[in-house]
Amino acid sequence: MEIKSAEFVISNTDVKKCPEGNMPEYAFIGRSNVGKSSLINMLTNRKSLALTSQKPGKTQLINHFIINKEWYLVDLPGYGYAQRGKEGREKLRRIIEDYILEREQLTNLFVLLDSRHAPQEIDLEFMEWLGENEIPFSIIFTKIDKISKSKLNGNLTVYKDKLLETWEELPPIFTSSSEKREGKEEVLSYIHEINQQLIT
Ligand code: GTP
Ligand code: MG
Repeated sequence: MEIKSAEFVISNTDVKKCPEGNMPEYAFIGRSNVGKSSLINMLTNRKSLALTSQKPGKTQLINHFIINKEWYLVDLPGYGYAQRGKEGREKLRRIIEDYILEREQLTNLFVLLDSRHAPQEIDLEFMEWLGENEIPFSIIFTKIDKISKSKLNGNLTVYKDKLLETWEELPPIFTSSSEKREGKEEVLSYIHEINQQLIT
């Protein structure tokens, strides 16, 4: 799918103030620093449409970007950033949860996982919570430029086995490198397919 236009629309802490209308939207979630904002820039061919940082906790708001004037990409704050303090973490958790549970236009949530790491409790619990609430999601393993192909394959196998301990079937799984611009076509084709199904 070709990205003809990508524009910032609005930032929010309140799901009720997100754009009205019924265009489908695709949001990115995951631990702080996993690469959500970088991935949005890579998918849209924009250097700094979404703001990124080496320090975790950069994205603090729900950010809507309209693509081809037809659908939205949504950059969300990360979860699990330890240095934010209990109150700050709670606040972000509420913003994220309200958005996910209340946003009817949310068509698919991409859960980003760092491809270098073994399965983490916080991510597994988050996906369990999505399942309990019947939120459709897919997984994107990020930063694959930082490990070898064989290590990546090993980690993917470990992760899939772990998921199959609690899930009957696996969600769609993608791999990406925002640095090397890998995984772009796969993710965009997947979004395109869903958009087409929604139209017909
Ligand atoms: P928060 O907004 O804090 O939740 O983080 P985020 O998930 O949006 O992460 P962000 O995109 O800001 O990226 C965090 C850091 O990881 C930045 O220094 C990025 O340059 C780096 N990064 C993101 N994706 C990749 C990748 O695919 N490869 C490499 N090598 N670095 C990446
Ligand atoms: Mg971010």
